[in-house]
Formats: sequence, structure tokens, C-alpha cells
Amino acid sequence: MNEIMLSEESFTPEQAFYQDVVEGLSDSPKRLPSKYFYDHRGSELFEQICELEEYYLTRAELSMLDRVARDIAGSLPQISRIVEFGSGNCEKVQYLLDRHRGVRRYLPIDVSESFLLYHADRLMQRYQGLEVEPVVGDFNFPIRLEDTEGGSLGFFPGSTIGNLDRWEAIRFLRNAAESLGPKSYFLVGVDTLKDQDILLAAYDDGQGVTRDFNLNLLRRLEQELGAKIDIDQFEHEARFNEEHSRIEMHLRSRCNQNIRINGDTFSLAKGETIHTENSHKYTVENFQMLACLGGWEPRQVWLADRGMFSIHLLKRMD
Ligand code: AVJ
Repeated sequence: MNEIMLSEESFTPEQAFYQDVVEGLSDSPKRLPSKYFYDHRGSELFEQICELEEYYLTRAELSMLDRVARDIAGSLPQISRIVEFGSGNCEKVQYLLDRHRGVRRYLPIDVSESFLLYHADRLMQRYQGLEVEPVVGDFNFPIRLEDTEGGSLGFFPGSTIGNLDRWEAIRFLRNAAESLGPKSYFLVGVDTLKDQDILLAAYDDGQGVTRDFNLNLLRRLEQELGAKIDIDQFEHEARFNEEHSRIEMHLRSRCNQNIRINGDTFSLAKGETIHTENSHKYTVENFQMLACLGGWEPRQVWLADRGMFSIHLLKRMD
């Protein structure tokens, strides 16, 4: 297994993390990028979130994947390579691999190196003859892939695209079109706009797993950047932003306090929040519009029960 490391503008991952944290905490309102949730521990917590009653997204998407895989097996039989953006535990792609035996290569891309390599290795053992080429890196940066014979199928499940704001999503889609190359298709899982109570519960579960997931970000600051920070004095908050049609996660400070990192001090007032995640929710039409702006033509949409979740098949505008 040859892992490929992506350099983020020639910074080491530690430098990029430090820079993004300092920049985010210096901003007003304060923010931290959600991609930093996913160290090994964060990836495990996210797996637990997917099992929660309130977190309907994963179940709804999984319930459709086999049918989607069968439907596209007929319409795009020439796929030789699958490229997954934010592959996590590599569970979902197996539905596609099972129905597309012609696929010879699988490129999972993820920021969590140890988690990625572990799951890529397991997948390789399970699918003998499949070339698994893990890419450690951040898919928000353009990724240069080798040319391939036959088309590529991009795979971006889980509504991870919802973490990007509209401009970032368009830029991401354009980068992906460039990376995947001519004649490629893109399968994207997108959470739908629905009743606010259902949305809010999904991001503020009764067991507090989502709270731990959110707070894990502060633990990373402490452990990896040596930050001095009183984690107990932060609480988890999920809110719905109607204007932007998105769930936001925040960390709210219970008191006036400081976070110290190296020589810098960041002051928080009681009640002030650090904005840690956006999770945009799209109607079918709004997502199709976004796809077009990103250089992709909408081809087909599957909806889970009562429109709880959507999977979009897109074709590159060549
Ligand atoms: C994996 C990014 C799709 O936004 O729903 C779960 C992450 N955040 N609970 C999402 C998440 C809080 C999740 N994504």
C-alpha cells in the first residue's frame, strides 16, 4: 500500500493546524475549522454519532446505497476507479464495490492518517485484487491524481459537503471535476432541509456524544498545541441558522476566561462562543443549482423515506 501525502501549501500538518487555530481564535466571532474534529479519537466519536437514534443521516443514506449502486451499475458500467473524499471507515464504498466488480482502483482521501491507513488496509484484505491507494490530506485543496483509463467515479457521502459554505462547496466541486478528469461522475450524499426539531436533535443527542465530539476539538488544542484551556468551562451548543439553511455547532464559554497558546492569549467573555461547524441542508433544487455552478450536470436523485436524505448523481460538464 503506497500512501500519498498531500502537502498543504508546503506546511506540515502541525503548522497548518496551529495557523488555522490562531487565525480562527483571532477572528470575531471566534471560529475553528470543523475538519479538525477528525483526529483518531474524533473519527471514533463520529462513528458513535452515526449509531445514535437522533442522527438519522447515516441510516437514511445506508438504506439507499445498495439500490443506488445497482441503478448506476447499469448506466455507468465503464468506471475503473473510485475516489472517495473524506473516506472515514470506508464502510459506504463497499456497497459500490460489491455491485461494480470492474472497479480496479480505490483512492480513499482522509485527514485522519492512522484511521485512514487502518481502514484502507482492512478493505484491501476484504477485496482481493482491488488496488487501494490511500491519500492522506485535506480535500479542500486541489488534488492531482494520475490519469486513468475509463472514467472515475467520485464519491462524497454523508453530507460532508454540507460542512462547506456555498463558495467553498463550489470551489470544492470544481477542484473535484479537475482531479477526477473527463467523463467522470460524482455521487454525493446531501442532507435535506426538514423540520427544525429533527435537525436540532441530530446535533444535540441525549447521550452527549455530539457534545464530546465538539469538545474533542479543545482537547486537540491542549494536547497537540500545548494550549492552556479550561475545557470544563465550555458547553456544547447546536442552533439552526435559517438565513443560511444550516445547523451550526458552537462551544459556549460558561465564564470570562482565557485560552493561552504559546505567547498568545485569546479572551472569551461569559456566553461568547467559538463557532466550530456548519452543516448546510439543501432542497433537491438548491443542491442541483450548486452542482451546476461547480461544473457538474445533475443526472439523477434518490431520496430516502419522506425525503430525509438525498443522493445525487452528477456528470462532469466536459
Ligand atoms: C460528517 C460532516 C456530515 O455535519 O452532520 C455530526 C459531522 N457534526 N454531528 C455532519 C457531524 C455533528 C457530520 N458530517
